[in-house]
Amino acid sequence: KNNPLYQLAEWISSSKHTVVLSGAGMSTESGLPDFRSRDGWWRNMDPHKVANVTAIEENYELFWGFYKYRIETVEQYSPHIGHHILAKWEKNGWIHGISTQNVDGYHVVAGNHNIVELHGNIRSIRCHYCGRSSDVADFLNRLNCSSCQGPLRPNVVLFGEMLPDNAWNQAFQWFHRAELVLVIGTSLQVAPANQLPCLTSGHTVYMNMEMPEELDPSFDLMIKGKVGQLLAELDEMLDYIHSGK
Ligand code: NAD
Ligand code: APR
Repeated sequence: KNNPLYQLAEWISSSKHTVVLSGAGMSTESGLPDFRSRDGWWRNMDPHKVANVTAIEENYELFWGFYKYRIETVEQYSPHIGHHILAKWEKNGWIHGISTQNVDGYHVVAGNHNIVELHGNIRSIRCHYCGRSSDVADFLNRLNCSSCQGPLRPNVVLFGEMLPDNAWNQAFQWFHRAELVLVIGTSLQVAPANQLPCLTSGHTVYMNMEMPEELDPSFDLMIKGKVGQLLAELDEMLDYIHSGK
């Protein structure tokens, strides 16, 4: 019983408001690279060149190529067991919702309904000038906005852009009210998403493959491992605890 996962399973069972903050580590087992690991995106591309709002004006070809490739990979792969487990937990009322930094939409595809997409969703497209929404096919075919001829871009939060107000406010409420916060598959390097865990007065748990030296805030539990594996083990314990009841 001194297994930290068992302690976590008990916290999940007794918490009345559990929220999740997920990052790119949630989707690497689906085949989508993360950003700051050994083979992450930012190992061989400068994010402030390609995923930056200035790239749209200064180097649209590079910006468009990067997001075209990411859209195609998101459409080629699919959610893995870890996403499906979190969808089951929401259905069972074991978690309240997920605020994700991911733009792949995989939590929604897996069946979660209470989702806050802090950095937007790569599959929805808008004109960078007039904001008119467009569809993925137009973006992939390199078309311009049909009403103002402006450049098209995915609805993702680029470096230098603010987060969507409603997303930030919703997440802020959830984390402020949370009795338990699970942080899954994120290096917590980017603001303001990395500020959310500090908001709760409840327990905080960090589940990740790499354990950063300093983590602010300090977490009540830090569990090292692969997301798919950790969630599968936790799911088994939760089923056992709830069958016993
Ligand atoms: P940053 O750490 O400099 O700041 C994050 C952004 O959030 C800034 O625009 C800042 O104005 C805003 N912000 C900071 N604190 C806030 C608060 N308390 N409430 C509301 N907004 C707040 O990060 P950055 O380098 O400017 O990157 C901006 C965002 O772009 C980050 O959230 C990053 O994750 C995101 N991003 C997305 C992609 C993608 O492909 N989806 C790629 C790169 C960056
Ligand atoms: N299991 C557990 N942890 C994993 C796994 C896995 N299968 N795969 C990767 N990880 C861990 C990595 O060790 C890393 O610490 O997930 C973390 C992913 O961190 P980042 O690559 O920094 O991704 P993320 O934290 O989501 O980045 C935040 O930065 O560029 C912006 O907008 C982008 O949303 C992104 C934001």
